[in-house]
Amino acid sequence: MVARSEKSRSLGGEVQRVVSEAQLRCWAADLGRQAVRYGAFVALYGTLGSGKSTLVRASCRSAGVVGPIPSPTFTLVNRYRLPDGGFVHHVDLYRIESEEEVWELGWQELMARSGPVFVEWADRAEALLPDDRWDIHLAFAESSDRRRISAKTRGAAPRLPA
Ligand SMILES: Nc1ncnc2c1ncn2[C@@H]1O[C@H](COP(=O)(O)OP(=O)(O)OP(=O)(O)O)[C@@H](O)[C@H]1O
Ligand SMILES: [Mg+2]
Repeated sequence: MVARSEKSRSLGGEVQRVVSEAQLRCWAADLGRQAVRYGAFVALYGTLGSGKSTLVRASCRSAGVVGPIPSPTFTLVNRYRLPDGGFVHHVDLYRIESEEEVWELGWQELMARSGPVFVEWADRAEALLPDDRWDIHLAFAESSDRRRISAKTRGAAPRLPA
C-alpha cells in the first residue's frame, strides 16, 4: 500500500504542497492559464528569494507573454501584452512604504483592469486588495531547493488549479 503524502494536498480550492523549482513552474503555468481565463488577481506573499518572481514568470510565459520578463523591483509595475490583445500586470510592492504610494502606482486603474494581475509583497497593500483573489504564500522548505506553496481562493475567485 502506498502511503498518502502529507506534503501534497489540494482540497476545495486550497493547495498545500512542497515543490522543487520545476514543479513550482509547472503549477505556475497552470495558474497562468487560469488567471488569463478569469482575469484573476493573484496576491503573492513570502520572504526574499522564496520564489514569487519565479512563479510569476512561469505564469506569464504560459499565458502567452513573449520576450524577457524582468523583475519589477525598480519599475514597480511591468505590463505585458497577451495574445488576445489584453494585458497582464506584474507588480512588486517591496519598496512601497505607504498606502499613498500604492495609489500613486495607478492602483485604481489596476483594480479596474480586465486581465490578470500578479502582486509580489501583497502584504504591503493588504487593506487595498480586492476581496475576490488568490492568496499564494511561498516559504522555504526543508532543503534550499524546495518551497512550500500554501494557496487559497478568496471571495468569489474561481478554484485554483490542483
Ligand atoms: N523550489 C523552488 N521554487 C522556486 N524557486 C526556487 C526553488 N528552488 C530554488 N529556487 C531559486 O530561488 C530563487 C527564487 O527567486 P525569486 O526571485 O523568484 O524570489 P522572490 O520571492 O521573487 O524574491 P524577492 O522578494 O526578492 O522578489 C531563484 O533563484 C530560484 O532559482
Ligand atoms: Mg521577486
